[in-house]
Order: sequence, then C-alpha cells, then structure tokens
Amino acid sequence: MLKGKNIILGVTGGIAVYKSADLVSRLVKQHANVEVIMTEAATKFVTPLTFQTMSVNKVHTEMFGLVSDFDVEHVSLAQKADIILIAPATANTIGKIANGIADNLLTTTVMASKAKVIYAPAMNTNMYNNPIFQENMNKLKNLGHEFIKTGVGRLACGDYGEGKMAEPSEIVEYVINSFIRKDLLGKKVVITAGPTIEPVDPVRYMTNHSSGKMGYNLAKEAVDRGANVVLISGPTTLTPPDGVELVKVNTTEEMFNAVGQYFDNCDVLIKSAAPLDYKPITVSPVKIKKSDGGNDILDLKFIRNPDIAAHYGSLKKNQIIVGFAAETNNLIEYALSKLKKKNFDFIVANDVTKPGAGFKNDTNIATIIDKKGNIEEHPLMDKKHLSKIILDKVYNILEEKAR
Ligand code: PMT
Repeated sequence: MLKGKNIILGVTGGIAVYKSADLVSRLVKQHANVEVIMTEAATKFVTPLTFQTMSVNKVHTEMFGLVSDFDVEHVSLAQKADIILIAPATANTIGKIANGIADNLLTTTVMASKAKVIYAPAMNTNMYNNPIFQENMNKLKNLGHEFIKTGVGRLACGDYGEGKMAEPSEIVEYVINSFIRKDLLGKKVVITAGPTIEPVDPVRYMTNHSSGKMGYNLAKEAVDRGANVVLISGPTTLTPPDGVELVKVNTTEEMFNAVGQYFDNCDVLIKSAAPLDYKPITVSPVKIKKSDGGNDILDLKFIRNPDIAAHYGSLKKNQIIVGFAAETNNLIEYALSKLKKKNFDFIVANDVTKPGAGFKNDTNIATIIDKKGNIEEHPLMDKKHLSKIILDKVYNILEEKAR
C-alpha cells in the first residue's frame, strides 16, 4: 500500500518510543521507505540501532553531524518526505513547532518541508488538557497539520485518562488513508448492508446469511475517499467504520423507510443489503406452541415486503443507484433483469454458491454489468478490494455526469 512512499518518522522522547519500533516495522511491511529522525531525548529510551535495524536505513540524530556528499541533512530529508509522521509526539516538540522553534534536526526538517505533517501525540493527561498544549495543537491544525486521536487509558505515569499514543496499527491505517485520493469528497453516499429480520412470534424470527461485510467494506472505502456516508444496516456483529452515520434497522420495512429519509438528497445509493422479500402475514403475540398446528406441519403464510431498490429506482432523479444480485443459478440472466427492473446504473452479481463468494466470506467473486450492457468479470478477491472497484465505477459515472 505504501510502495514508493518516503516517510520521515520523527521520534521524540516519551515512553511510547518502544511502540514506534513496531510502527517502523509495520510501515516497512507496507513497503514504505522509512527514515527515522530521533530527538536526543528519544535516544535515552531506545537506541538508534533499534530503529536502524527496523527501517534498514541510517537513523538521523544530529543537527550538526558531518554531512556526506554535501547533502544538507534537514533540507534533503524535508524534500524527499511524502509525509512527516511524528510518533510519539511530545508536548515539547509540538510546542516548539507551533511556535516556530527549529533547534534540532526534527523541528528544522518540519520547518523546511512542504510535506503533510502528522502527529501521534503521547503525554500525561494533565499535559494533554493543558490549555497551552491545546492552543499549540489547534494552531497547528489550523495550519493543516493533522493529529491522530490519542487513546484513553492507564498512562506510564500511573494516571488514567487521555494522552495515550494511538496504537501502531491505527497510525499505519491513518498514514495509508492519507495517500488515498479523496475523489468522493463531499458526495452523499447511502449504503445498505446486512440482512433484515422478520419476527414470527416473540421468540423467533426469519433472516438470511448476510453478515454485512460487503456493505461495511463499501462504507469504509467511501468514507476514506471523502464521502459523507450513511450506513443503513440490518443486524450484524460488525463495528461500523469511523466517520459513518449508522442507522440500525431490523425489518425490510424499516430499511425501506430509512432509505426514504436519505434518498432525495443523496448522490449515490448502494444496495448491498440482503433484505427479506417476504414476512409472515401475522406475527403471533405469544410463542407458537408445538401443538398449535395440530399435526407436524406448521402453516405460516407470508406476504411480500416492499422492494426497496425497485421503489427508489422508480423515483430516481440524478442519483446513481448500484444494485447487487445474489444468485444461485442463471447469474447473468437474472442480474440483467434486476438491473433493468430496478433502474440500477450497474449491478454487482455474485453467485453465492461459489466457494469464497457471497455471504459471510471476507472475499467475493463478482460480475459487474452496467446499463450499456458492458460485462466485467472480477475473480476471487477480498471485499475491500471489490469495494474499491465498485467505487471507482461510481466515481467514473459521477465524472461523466459532471461533464
Ligand atoms: O453481507 P455479506 O455476508 O458480506 O454478503 C454479501 C451479499 C451476498 C449479501 C451481497 O454481496 C449481495 O449480493 N447483496 C444483495 C442480496 C440480495 O438481496 O440480492 P437480491 O438478488 O435478492 O436483490 C437484488 C437487489 O435488490 C439487491 O440490491 C437488494 O439489496 C435489493 N432488494 C432486494 C429485496 C428487497 N425487498 N428490496 C431490495 O432493495
């Protein structure tokens, strides 16, 4: 994900330095070129040799070291940086940068660079809440510098509260996101995900195998690309991605109403949910007993639920609607018919009988068919990657419409 990216990692003096060694290892695993600048205080916690070994690069510590090839170190580091990441970032270093002090290699490099600067602060709660630190942080934020949210927890000093450095995995994810193009910035994207459930009696309900993974991956990709995402989700065990507006629903009718609240003002509607087409005509107010049927057969009668996609497809104005088709046979034929009937811009058809495709898996196999009749086959891939392909197509249609 970070191939060809030069990351200058500033390491300042706090106990969280030990986590930064893991951070370097994770960035290198993503194929980033990592060059570490350590402040003098940082070298008291962990030796430069650790970072040199993890980054497989020389570690920079000295402002006035002898230069090689007449490279002025802070200038050459500043110029090659795609991102300057400071983790851990102490109140001291943040305060210096906010006030234009450039008295060591790291602060000088930041001052000399046009690259994006990202901080992962780490400090004691009182320091974090100190208005001087808050003012410095806000000043830098207003200048376009970015801060990764600190965690709340037990700190090295024994206090409990805000100020814990974000975990290395979170920092890497933040960095990766910074390189993702924000081509859906400001677009309103509504995504339906997961199954719906229909009650039979107070203790039983009907549902299907949808886990929500396809829809949640789409929501994450859309939010990372700058969209305002509303995720309308049936019951799942998944954690919604940060930054999405989550609307929880149970039944198909609830999903129908929720989509209705957002449809008029959205740019894109993606129908990856698997809503139940039928529900019991009546829901028994009490638990149905075995003997109620009088014999071994229990007769339940069902009635059609609204077809959410078809309904909003018929009301479509300028919205892009992406549908899905979960099929067990005649994939292309059925998908084509749904594409037309529900007025989709394109449909993502998955044969749910294929290993690795459809429900519950982290992967999918998809055939994408658009209104013009173009058919694309996408082999087994993770749902994250398929989400990227789907949103690339959405972006292309948005661009076409804007022309
Ligand atoms: O959630 P996962 O475990 O990750 O699984 C992913 C998935 C298999 C659920 C997903 O890839 C998928 O195929 N979703 C659509 C499932 C489905 O309901 O397919 P369908 O062929 O029955 O419906 C066609 C389209 O109409 C779908 O966009 C569906 O959301 C929509 N629909 C269906 C019924 C209904 N009453 N209202 C609808 O809007």
